[in-house]
Amino acid sequence: MTTLASSAATFNVDKVRADFPILTERVHGKPLVYLDSANTSQKPESVLKAMDDYYRHANANIHRATHLLSERATALYEGSRAKAAAFLNAPDMRTIVLTKGTTDGINLVAQSYGRSTLKPGDEILLTWLEHHSNIVPWQLVAAQTGAVIKVVPINDAGELEQDQLSALLSERTKIMAVGHVSNALGTINPIKEMIAKAHAAGAVVLVDGAQAAPHLVIDVQALDCDFYVLSSHKMFGSTGTGVLYGRASLLEAMPPYQGGGDMIASVTFEQTLYNQVPYKFEAGTPNMAGVVGLGAAIDYLAGIDRDAALAHEDAVLEYATAQVREIPGTRIIGEARHKTGVLSFMLEGAHPHDAGTILDRQGVAVRTGQHCAQPVMDRFCIPATIRASLGIYNTREDIDALVRGLHKVRELFT
Ligand code: ALA
Repeated sequence: MTTLASSAATFNVDKVRADFPILTERVHGKPLVYLDSANTSQKPESVLKAMDDYYRHANANIHRATHLLSERATALYEGSRAKAAAFLNAPDMRTIVLTKGTTDGINLVAQSYGRSTLKPGDEILLTWLEHHSNIVPWQLVAAQTGAVIKVVPINDAGELEQDQLSALLSERTKIMAVGHVSNALGTINPIKEMIAKAHAAGAVVLVDGAQAAPHLVIDVQALDCDFYVLSSHKMFGSTGTGVLYGRASLLEAMPPYQGGGDMIASVTFEQTLYNQVPYKFEAGTPNMAGVVGLGAAIDYLAGIDRDAALAHEDAVLEYATAQVREIPGTRIIGEARHKTGVLSFMLEGAHPHDAGTILDRQGVAVRTGQHCAQPVMDRFCIPATIRASLGIYNTREDIDALVRGLHKVRELFT
C-alpha cells in the first residue's frame, strides 16, 4: 500500500459531504449525484457563511474610505490576498493579483506582458490539451503583434509529447502557456520539467492551474513558473474571482491591463501615474464578497489533509474508470499515466448530449460536449464526450449511480 493509498483509508468523506449543503438536494425527485466539479465545484457552508457575513457586517468599498466598514472590507479583501499567497507559496503579497478568474488572468498576461513584449515572428507555445481560455487570448495577442502560435501535440493517451516540446522550443519562443491539469481529459502535465525546458530556451511560462487548484498542492516557487492562474469557483469558492500569481520583476515592468479607480497613484488630464503592484492590475471596484469567498475556500482546503483528499479522489477515479470500462460500448478518452479528477468517455450508439439528458433525469449531473476544448476533441476525431469530474466530496456510490444511469442510456439507445 502506498502512502497515498493508506491516507485514502483515513479520509472521512462523509464529514466532508456534510460541509456541502447542496449535496442533499434532490433533482427530478432523485438524490443529486454531482459529477461536474471541473465545470464548477460546490461550496461548503463556511464559504457561504463568509460571503453572507461580509454583506451583513462589512460591506463597503475597499481602499477608498476611512470609515469602519471600509476598514473591515479592506482587511477581509487583503486577508484573502495573503491567504492566496500562502496557498500558492508565493514569496509575497505583491505577486498576487486578484482577478475575475482564470480567463481574466490569462487575458491580463496576454494583453499586458504579451502585447508589450511580443514582436513579429516571435512564438507563443501552447499545447493541444488547452481549453479555449488558454488559446483564444494568445490568438488575439498574436494577431495584434505578429507573433506566431505553435502547439505541442498529444499522444493517443492524452499526454503531451515531450520530445516535440523540446523540438518546438527555440530562441523564437517568448511565451509558453500550458495547463497544469487538462479539463477535458484530466492529464496532469509534468510542468516543472516543462518550465525548466522553456526557461532554458529563454521563454516566460504561464501555467493555467484552473483544474489543478482543487486537487493538487501548488508551490509556485518550487515550480519556478513566471505566472500561475486559477479560479476560485473550481476550488470550492465563489464565482467571478480568481488569482494571478506573477513574478514580481515581470509584474513591475508590465503596463496596466485596464484603467480605472484604485489602479492609479495620481490622475490629471496631462498624465496619470499608476499604483504599485498588484493594485496597478486591479482597476475598479472588485468582487469583494467573492474575494472573501475565495479566502474562505482557501481556509477550507487548509483544514483538510490534502494528501488524503487526493488519495481518496484518485481511488474514486480508479473505481470509476474500471466500472465505466466494463460497460459494453464505452470508449475512454484520455488514459494518461498521471491523471486527476476527470473521466471522459463515449458510449456507442448514444450522443453524449442525449446521454447527459438521461443521466440528469436519474439525478446524475455530468458535463457533455467539447468542454471548451475543441482541439482536444478534434485530436481524437470525436464531436464530444461524456465527462464525469470529481470533487473531494464524491464517493464510489456516486459512481455506482453513474453506472446505473449509463445502463439506462444503453437500454434506450442500443
Ligand atoms: N473549463 C470548464 C470546464 O471544464 C468550464 O467545464
